[in-house]
Amino acid sequence: MALLRMRNAQGANATEIEKKIKRGNALRQGSAWRGSRWLVALLLVVLSVCVAAMWLYVTSLDSDVTETLVGQGELVTPQPRVYAVQCSEDYENYKRYPGCTPVKCGRAVTDGVVTREEAQVLRRLAERGMALAGSEGGASILDLHSGALSMGKQFVNIYRYFGDEIRDVFTQEDFQLYRNVRGRIQAVIAETFGLDPTLMYLTKPTFFSRINSTAAKTQHDEYWHPHIDKVTYGSFDYTSLLYLSDYGTDFTGGRFIFMDQNDNRTVEPRAGRVSFFSSGTENLHRVEKVTWGTRYAITVSFTCDPAHAIADPAIPGGTHG
Ligand SMILES: *[C@@H]1O[C@H](CO)[C@@H](O)[C@H](O)[C@H]1NC(C)=O
Ligand SMILES: *[C@@H]1O[C@H](CO)[C@@H](O)[C@H](O)[C@H]1NC(C)=O
Repeated sequence: MALLRMRNAQGANATEIEKKIKRGNALRQGSAWRGSRWLVALLLVVLSVCVAAMWLYVTSLDSDVTETLVGQGELVTPQPRVYAVQCSEDYENYKRYPGCTPVKCGRAVTDGVVTREEAQVLRRLAERGMALAGSEGGASILDLHSGALSMGKQFVNIYRYFGDEIRDVFTQEDFQLYRNVRGRIQAVIAETFGLDPTLMYLTKPTFFSRINSTAAKTQHDEYWHPHIDKVTYGSFDYTSLLYLSDYGTDFTGGRFIFMDQNDNRTVEPRAGRVSFFSSGTENLHRVEKVTWGTRYAITVSFTCDPAHAIADPAIPGGTHG
């Protein structure tokens, strides 16, 4: 009872004290909160600096690439993905062939024309062919039409140099697949650009390429310079690339880049992917340097000028392949 009275007596005082204590706690908590708020802010700043640094680092790795048109992981099928661009004036300097000479220009990508299995068969063909010789630098080519194969700092003609041995390296089926695939590529280009496929001709150079990160030894190894196919080879009207390996798993670097006025747009290689475009200045392009692994592709070129047509390849003396 005495205690109770005392409490009551001090009631007012006690609540004052309690209030003070509470306010003190609140203040302390507030300052503690303010303290940790600074810490959180500091952490956020540090974190954003780290993220920015990482982002800068990652983008500096491919600082030239502003847009990925088609990534390796995408599957563009059944219809090609088409990007129209205005035709350059390059074609005016040549005789026009109605039904073939570009009127519509652009670039397109499709994964629906060549299967990954077919790409694998063709890659093995390239591997076997290139194993016969190969460039000292990182870029070798094998042209089944002319027989040209990189060897050291030069080229040899495989059909002449290896003679009958070639029939142990390539089979009739290999060549049949190659011809069949080029026919399908021709058909999809014709359909996409509204051409008559019978008025398009295969032209040279049409070749396999194998690229790794070994430094270039001659100019032939320097595949990465920006160029325009129709300026380099006047006969070209449509260029296509069939990729035989995968960007990211088989190799790094080695992306195809369309260099536009304000953008560098890439196509990431994927085994079986066909990328094709009109060959003029509207499609200035380059290939990134391969930084790791081996990149296989086939360049298949078409002209509208029958004078520049080349025949499909066949194994010499080939009925008993
Ligand atoms: C690139 O390929 C050539 C020819 O096969 C080979 O000698 C060289 O070691 C390869 N380079 C790398 C970095 O794998
Ligand atoms: C495109 O890449 C080239 C080098 O490959 C670079 O000089 C140019 O600035 C890039 N363009 C854009 C718009 O990023």
